[in-house]
Amino acid sequence: MNTKSEGGYKTDSKDNSTSHRGGYCHGAVVHALQQCGVRHIDTAKRYGCEHLLQRAIRDSGVKREDLWITTKLWHSDYGYDNTKKACLESCERLGVEYLDLYLIHWPDAQVPGKSNREVRAETWRAMEELYEKGLCKSIGVSNFLISHLEQLKEDCVITPHVNQVEYHPFQRPQELVDYCRSRNIVFEGYCPLAKGEALTHPTVIQLAKKYGRTPAQICIRWSIQNGIVTIPKSTKAEWIEENCKVFDFTITEDDVEILNGMHDGRHVSWDPSFIV
Ligand SMILES: NC(=O)c1ccc[n+]([C@@H]2O[C@H](COP(=O)([O-])OP(=O)(O)OC[C@H]3O[C@@H](n4cnc5c(N)ncnc54)[C@H](OP(=O)(O)O)[C@@H]3O)[C@@H](O)[C@H]2O)c1
Repeated sequence: MNTKSEGGYKTDSKDNSTSHRGGYCHGAVVHALQQCGVRHIDTAKRYGCEHLLQRAIRDSGVKREDLWITTKLWHSDYGYDNTKKACLESCERLGVEYLDLYLIHWPDAQVPGKSNREVRAETWRAMEELYEKGLCKSIGVSNFLISHLEQLKEDCVITPHVNQVEYHPFQRPQELVDYCRSRNIVFEGYCPLAKGEALTHPTVIQLAKKYGRTPAQICIRWSIQNGIVTIPKSTKAEWIEENCKVFDFTITEDDVEILNGMHDGRHVSWDPSFIV
């Protein structure tokens, strides 16, 4: 379950409007935790809802140790000292003493007078320390390309545990997936529904009919069968339930190949390819 909230906050589950820009719904988060068995929460300082999640987690009654909480460091906090401070602040907003996963959100650092590479390395050294001290059980990056990961390999010690990258039928960066696998970096795919764009594609609709499932379930199941950790998001209780029901059917290899063939390179989120 993911909690991106650029579209603003919703504090109850009555608002059923579709927001392809995000949104946060307290009732939906509590429902996901209490009724759907969801245990993975993906958020970020940038989403502005860490403090709201503290309340949702408390209201759900789910124990901290049963949750996997990921949050992300935004570029305004990059650098050695800032990173450590930002991590503590995120923990405070979330009401937790440790993070299960902390990610550098974006490869571009935007620090005047310093190269991106320099700032990423400095930032990563702080992440390594946060990991060594146990404040972060695992550390990773997001939107990093092979070039960024290769630089980090030369500059730092610990290999990122995770790279969270856009992944859906229109955006299947197989070379990056293979590279991450070769270095034991877990590939986590975000926007698995292409922010809803994939759900109206005729091929996805046709396969949904064939399997007696919904287009969203086809996209999520396809990610899973490709070995990708996937994090669909919805502010609606019924869609969260639907998105969780993907473990009782299998897409044939031929149909996985059909979906694999839909890649056209389009991004529905950010394109990091211009970041050096
Ligand atoms: N690391 C990064 O840079 C980055 C960037 C983008 C996203 N992410 C992460 O990935 C998560 C998912 O990405 P996303 O929300 O952008 O895209 P997404 O999961 O591909 O799509 C979400 C959209 O699909 C709708 N939806 C969800 N389930 C549906 C269903 N069963 N049927 C029909 N429509 C459905 C949602 O509607 P409602 O919301 O109205 O329910 C929302 O408009 C985010 O929450 C965030 O945690 C990370």
